[in-house]
Amino acid sequence: MDACRLFLSLLLMMSTPRGKSEASKSSCLNLDQDFYRLIKGEAFYYVSYAMDDPKMPDENITWYKNGPEIKNITTDETHRIHYHGGALLFLNISANDSGTYTGRHITPSGECFYYHLKIEVFNEISRENLTYGSIKNSDQNKKIPCPQQIEDICTTFNGNFTWFKGANLLPGHHEAILLVENAEKDDEDIYTCICTWTHNHKLYNSSGSRKLFVEEKASYRNVEITSPTSKEQLVDKGKKTS
Ligand SMILES: *[C@@H]1O[C@H](CO)[C@@H](O)[C@H](O)[C@H]1NC(C)=O
Ligand SMILES: *[C@@H]1O[C@H](CO)[C@@H](O)[C@H](O)[C@H]1NC(C)=O
Ligand SMILES: *[C@@H]1O[C@H](CO)[C@@H](O)[C@H](O)[C@H]1NC(C)=O
Ligand SMILES: *[C@@H]1O[C@H](CO)[C@@H](O)[C@H](O)[C@H]1NC(C)=O
Ligand SMILES: *[C@@H]1O[C@H](CO)[C@@H](O)[C@H](O)[C@H]1NC(C)=O
Ligand SMILES: *[C@@H]1O[C@H](CO)[C@@H](O)[C@H](O)[C@H]1NC(C)=O
Ligand SMILES: *[C@@H]1O[C@H](CO)[C@@H](O)[C@H](O)[C@H]1NC(C)=O
Repeated sequence: MDACRLFLSLLLMMSTPRGKSEASKSSCLNLDQDFYRLIKGEAFYYVSYAMDDPKMPDENITWYKNGPEIKNITTDETHRIHYHGGALLFLNISANDSGTYTGRHITPSGECFYYHLKIEVFNEISRENLTYGSIKNSDQNKKIPCPQQIEDICTTFNGNFTWFKGANLLPGHHEAILLVENAEKDDEDIYTCICTWTHNHKLYNSSGSRKLFVEEKASYRNVEITSPTSKEQLVDKGKKTS
C-alpha cells in the first residue's frame, strides 16, 4: 500500500508542476472503499490499511457519514461513534449505523486523501452468512486464524480472545489462531473468534467467523491442494501459534 501511495503521490506531483498547494486545493485522492459486515451490539475499530500512520492529530482529518445529509463524526469519547485521528470507533453498533463513511485527510506535505468505509449491520443470527475467508486445505491439523481486522483490534486494545465452534464455547482457547488437530468431518463448522476489549472502562466484543471445510478421508485421487482463499490467510500463514 505504501508503495502504491508513493506512486500515486508521485503522479500527483508530476501532474502539477506548478506546485503541490494548487493540487491539494483542487484534488483529493480517493482510496479504495473497505467493506465490513458487522454484528449489532458489538464494537468495531476501523483503520484503513492504506493509512501510513493513524496517530495523526484529530484536526488533520475529518470523518463523516454519507447520506441525504452529511453527518460529521465527533472526537467526543462519550459518543457511540467517534474518531481518534485515523481510527474510527463504533461502539454498541446499531442497525442504523449501516452506510458509508468517509475520512478526509490532509498530510503535512499538503496532499489530500479520502478514505472510504462501507459497513452493513446484521443480527447475530445471520452469523453463518458473515464469514471471512474460509479454510479449505488438505492439512491434517487445521489452523484457523482469527480474521486480521479482529486480531488487530485485539492487539490495539490488549483484549482477550475466546473461540466458538458454531454456538459452543471452546474452553481454554485464547490464541489468535485456533488449531484443530487431526481434523475430521465432524470438525467442519463455522468457527468464531470473539475479542473482548475495554474502552473507557467498558467491555466490548468484536468478532469474526470462518468456515472450516474438512474433506472426507479418501483415496489418493481425491486429494487436492487448494490454494489459500483469502488475503488474511496469506498474511497469517507465517505466524506462529505459540
Ligand atoms: C462538518 O465538518 C466540516 C469540516 O470540518 C465543516 O466544514 C462543516 O461545516 C461541518 N458540518 C456540520 C453540519 O457541522
Ligand atoms: C446498546 O444499544 C441498545 C439500543 O440499540 C441499548 O438497548 C443497549 O442498552 C446498549 N448497550 C450498551 C451496553 O450500551
Ligand atoms: C439509530 O439508533 C440509535 C440507537 O439504537 C438511536 O439512538 C438513533 O436515534 C438512531 N438514529 C436514527 C437516524 O434512526
Ligand atoms: C496537521 O495539520 C497542520 C496544519 O494543516 C500541519 O502543519 C501539520 O503538519 C499536520 N500534521 C500531520 C501529522 O499531518
Ligand atoms: C443466509 O443466506 C441465505 C442465502 O442468502 C439465506 O437463505 C439464509 O436465510 C441466511 N441465513 C441467515 C441466518 O440469515
Ligand atoms: C484478559 O485476560 C486477562 C488475564 O486473564 C485479564 O487480566 C484481563 O482483565 C482480561 N481483559 C479483558 C478485556 O477481558
Ligand atoms: C461478549 O461475548 C460473550 C460471548 O458471547 C458474552 O458472554 C458477553 O456477554 C459479551 N460481552 C459484551 C460486552 O457484549
